[in-house]
Amino acid sequence: MASSVRIVLQEGEALLHGVDSPRLSAELLLAEVVGCSRLSLVVDYSRQLSSAECEQFRQLVSRRATGEPLAYIIGMKEFYGLDFQVTPDVLIPRPETEHIVEEIERLYDKDKPFHYADLGTGSGILAVTVAVLFPKATGVAADISRGALHVASSNAVRHDVANRLDFLLGDFTTRLFDEEVFDLILSNPPYVTEAEYDAASHEVTGFEPVGALVSGVDGLDHVRAMLGHVLHALKPGGYFLMEIGCDQGREVEKILTDQFPGFEPVVVKRDIAGLDRVLFARKK
Ligand SMILES: C[S@@+](CC[C@H](N)C(=O)[O-])C[C@H]1O[C@@H](n2cnc3c(N)ncnc32)[C@H](O)[C@@H]1O
Repeated sequence: MASSVRIVLQEGEALLHGVDSPRLSAELLLAEVVGCSRLSLVVDYSRQLSSAECEQFRQLVSRRATGEPLAYIIGMKEFYGLDFQVTPDVLIPRPETEHIVEEIERLYDKDKPFHYADLGTGSGILAVTVAVLFPKATGVAADISRGALHVASSNAVRHDVANRLDFLLGDFTTRLFDEEVFDLILSNPPYVTEAEYDAASHEVTGFEPVGALVSGVDGLDHVRAMLGHVLHALKPGGYFLMEIGCDQGREVEKILTDQFPGFEPVVVKRDIAGLDRVLFARKK
C-alpha cells in the first residue's frame, strides 16, 4: 500500500526498536530504497511513496530487525571519506582503522613513490585509500579469502586505482613475498580473542566472517605467525604499521622486542582516549 515518508518511517522505527539507533536505521534504509540522500528524505515528510517502495522498505527493515548490519544491507560503508562496497565476505570497515592511514599521511609526502603491501586487505580499505592518497604509490593487497579479494578489487576499480594494485590470494602467515620488496607493510589482522568473540553481539557473530576477527586464545596468533615474514619482505628502513586491540600494545611490543630484533624499538600509537590502536615498527 502506498504511504508517506512520515508514516513509513514511524512504522520502520517501531519495528527496529531492538537495534541501535532505530530512527537513523529506518531513515538510511528508506533513503536507499528511494535512491536519495537521508537529508532530502527528512526535509519532505509528506512525500508520497509508491507501494513498491513501501514493500521494499519493509523487506529491508525486517532484515535489519534480525540484527543484520546496515552496511551489509546497503552494501556500502564509508572509510576515510571514501565509499567502499562491502559484502558478508568482508569485515565491515571500522573507524579505528583510519588511524593507520593518518600515520601514513604523517610518514610520506603526497608525491612520494613507494611500494607497499596490505596484509589481510578485506574490502581493500587500506590498500585502496593509500593508493588514492598517494598517486605514485604501488601496492599488493593480500587476503586468504577469495570473496574478500573480489570485493577489494572492485573497490580498487571504483576508486580508479586498480592499475597500481595487485591482488594476491594467500596466507600472510607463510612466505608470500620475496626478500626486501616493500617500503611499507600495513595490516589490520584478526586480533579478537576467543573469549571476546564469544561475548560479542549477534550483529558481529551472526553476520561478520569469523576468519576476519578471531586469532586464538589471546588474539595474537596471527601477529606471532606473520612478523618473521613481514621482516623478510620489508626493505631495510621500511615501516610496518599494524592495527592492534585496544589493550594489546604492551604484549605486542614485548613479542617484537624479545623475538624480532630485526626491528628498531617499536612505538604503540594510542588514540585520544588513550587506547592502543597502531603498532609502529621500523626494520633496521
Ligand atoms: C580484521 S580483517 C581486516 C580487513 C580490512 N583490512 C579492514 O581493515 O577492514 C582481517 C582480514 O584478514 C584476512 N585474513 C585472516 N587470516 C589471514 C591469513 N592467514 N592470510 C591472509 N589473510 C588473512 C581475513 O580474510 C580478513 O579479510
